[in-house]
Amino acid sequence: MEIIKDLRVMQARSGFLRQEGKAIGFVPTMGYLHEGHLTLLRRAREENDIVVLSIFVNPAQFGAGEDYEKYPRDTEGDLAKASEAGTDIAFLPEVAEMYPAGYATYVNVEGLTEKLCGRSRPGHFRGVTTVVLKLFNLVQPHRAYFGEKDYQQLVVIKKMVSDLNLDLQIIGCPTVRESDGLAMSSRNAYLSPQERLSALCLSRSLAKAEELIRGGEKSPQSIINEISKVIEKEPGAKIDYVAVCHPETLGDLESIDSQALIALAVKIGPARLLDNRLVKVNN
Ligand code: PAF
Repeated sequence: MEIIKDLRVMQARSGFLRQEGKAIGFVPTMGYLHEGHLTLLRRAREENDIVVLSIFVNPAQFGAGEDYEKYPRDTEGDLAKASEAGTDIAFLPEVAEMYPAGYATYVNVEGLTEKLCGRSRPGHFRGVTTVVLKLFNLVQPHRAYFGEKDYQQLVVIKKMVSDLNLDLQIIGCPTVRESDGLAMSSRNAYLSPQERLSALCLSRSLAKAEELIRGGEKSPQSIINEISKVIEKEPGAKIDYVAVCHPETLGDLESIDSQALIALAVKIGPARLLDNRLVKVNN
């Protein structure tokens, strides 16, 4: 596996690979790789000639007082896992190279980014879309892979790609879970054993919501109330939001008629965790 830190070297390498007719699959990450990331890398391996992984903890997507400084990092462990998963190139840019002094250009997808996580993390998606577009320009992938756990991020990136006519395919991949249902996330590392148990309330409440919808419940408010009950029972769990929304517009639904994205953000101790479930109803 080749390791590239320099932006111009990455861009030149990708340009050369494209000229050679190679299909480039790209998995952007902030590192601390878990099975969810490795699943994206393996899928990219199957579908492309060259697999590029980026590891970059992006300061632009963290707000003041958020966990940028203490975000878990393990570059050595990540490189071993990435190589094992079949990565060809690990791209590790430096903050000072990505955002040199005087940096002034940002990408903002309006509307979608003001909903759900955008309410409690203003500016977060502006940081995500900015870095993702920069990474796309450097890596020049044909396909880029993102996990559905960060569903809103996936929808926002698809919208950016469509609105800015970027010539690549965005591929969303199902959330990978621990055997007890907890969605894999680098931030799970913040949880104590007790908090790790409490965190199961996210997937449990989503399972309950799906069961109710499959049983005929159409009222988003009833679903939100039921989910809230499950989560509020858990000591130390604090709801940021529970939403029942349209999976593309992320707008609140008035009634659950064909499909609904049920999305949650919950604080468990020091970790703000996300989970979601897309429920399709056959009428
Ligand atoms: O999902 C993530 O890890 C990050 O938001 C991403 C897409 C790598 C951008 O920094």
